[in-house]
Amino acid sequence: MEKVYIIGTGPGELEFLLPVGKNIIKSCDIVIASSRLMPFIPEGKKVIRLEGKYNECLEFIQKNASTKKIGVLVSGDPGIFSFSKKITQMLDSSQYEIVPGVSSLQLACARIGLSWDDLSIISVHGKSLRGLAEKCEVNKKIIIFCDNKNTPTRISRYLTKRIKGKARAVAFGNLSLPGEEIIKSDIISLAKREKEWKGLWLLLISK
Ligand SMILES: C[S@@+](CC[C@H](N)C(=O)[O-])C[C@H]1O[C@@H](n2cnc3c(N)ncnc32)[C@H](O)[C@@H]1O
Repeated sequence: MEKVYIIGTGPGELEFLLPVGKNIIKSCDIVIASSRLMPFIPEGKKVIRLEGKYNECLEFIQKNASTKKIGVLVSGDPGIFSFSKKITQMLDSSQYEIVPGVSSLQLACARIGLSWDDLSIISVHGKSLRGLAEKCEVNKKIIIFCDNKNTPTRISRYLTKRIKGKARAVAFGNLSLPGEEIIKSDIISLAKREKEWKGLWLLLISK
């Protein structure tokens, strides 16, 4: 009886993939991943690209989970804002194994020496920003998973109009990847910043 392995590949740089994940990928019959994660797959391996085919991939996983050793690669750690959830909701727990990875959140905190045991975590990926100011008021430290539309500038503009005082803000871009950037600032300055926020960004707001 085979299983589905949901493997966290870390924040981007190949070296962050844990050896356990690397070995499992090598031994899989087939690997499902987005284009961004192709560098983690050894040459010659059978691959299904995830983009635009989420439902087909889920169907394939459900049909083949017990007969093929399927690896599903997700960025960072599978336990946080990940395709992993769809798979674990669909399968029985005996049909899959989760292989942890280093989350972008962990690397962001490590880069600035911040412990994250008291951090609130939010994603605004494809979401409205409504309610975000209230969350920032009640939580001392909040980390926000951004997207191409909800950039650090857009989020800061939203927050400056709604929260009291000058909250500190740190934007983390493309962690571990070429062009990594860490911008230590505050929401008022970030709100004025005209920048093309290319790639992957996290925003830490603290009071
Ligand atoms: C679908 S979520 C996946 C999160 C992933 N499971 C994790 O543990 O990092 C994608 C979002 O994570 C954040 N992210 C992922 N990798 C990143 C990186 N290398 N640098 C900065 N943010 C990153 C960005 O906010 C991006 O939009």
